[in-house]
Amino acid sequence: MIVRANQSDLVEELVDEIELELQKRLFETSPKPIGLATGRTMTSVYSSLLTRLKRWPAHQLESLLEGWCSFNLDEYVGLGVEDIPSFIRYMSCYLGDPLQLGPKQLFIPNGIAKDPNHEAFLYLQKLNSCGGIGMQLLGLGANGHIGFNEPPSGSESSCRVVCLSPFTKKQNAFAFGGEVDKVPDYAITLGIQEILQAEKIHLVVTGQTKASILSKLLNSSVSEDLPASWLKLHSNVYIWADQSAIE
Ligand code: GLP
Repeated sequence: MIVRANQSDLVEELVDEIELELQKRLFETSPKPIGLATGRTMTSVYSSLLTRLKRWPAHQLESLLEGWCSFNLDEYVGLGVEDIPSFIRYMSCYLGDPLQLGPKQLFIPNGIAKDPNHEAFLYLQKLNSCGGIGMQLLGLGANGHIGFNEPPSGSESSCRVVCLSPFTKKQNAFAFGGEVDKVPDYAITLGIQEILQAEKIHLVVTGQTKASILSKLLNSSVSEDLPASWLKLHSNVYIWADQSAIE
């Protein structure tokens, strides 16, 4: 676990790692897709990453962007790019638009697909056809979810439509003007299985509101009631925490 005094030091160091990973991709013939997350934790990561990328030599940046392929973890069912709280909108705002990434580079489940179950199936098929995730960025839900894998989620759970818990709806209501009732009931998420298949995982946990779930995670054994605990089965996981997330 990497602990730093404050969020900004933590983010800068994490972005050092991400930058190295992205530089490595330039020399690989078919690098695996990058796994991306949304949420408040990730906004400073993306904004720092953008600042760094702007310093790259033009030819390197161009080659990185040409070969860009990322898969987001999740999306609300019923929300599309026109909806401010949608994750597609979030990704366009923080990464897609500034880097001019197209829909065939920055993949995210289609929340407004007519048949969400079929969309989950297609999304997984697409991810598998691209070789699965290389480096995965993850945030931590205050109830221990990763992506939208709510408790209980088994290690074999795969990309699917999930029902959001009242706890998560409350946690995410800030993006819906504080109105819990406006938070969609369902989401499409990559499963624990796809996350565990990533080559390397960075779990980022910041802020005092995450202190109790982080402590629970560090002290628990693996269980479907704490979906993030499945990460303990992975051999290449880095937990990044700021001091306020440590109880
Ligand atoms: C959300 C997302 C997760 C995110 C987590 C933490 O509901 N589905 O991918 O990592 O919850 O969010 P935040 O960073 O806003 O605390």
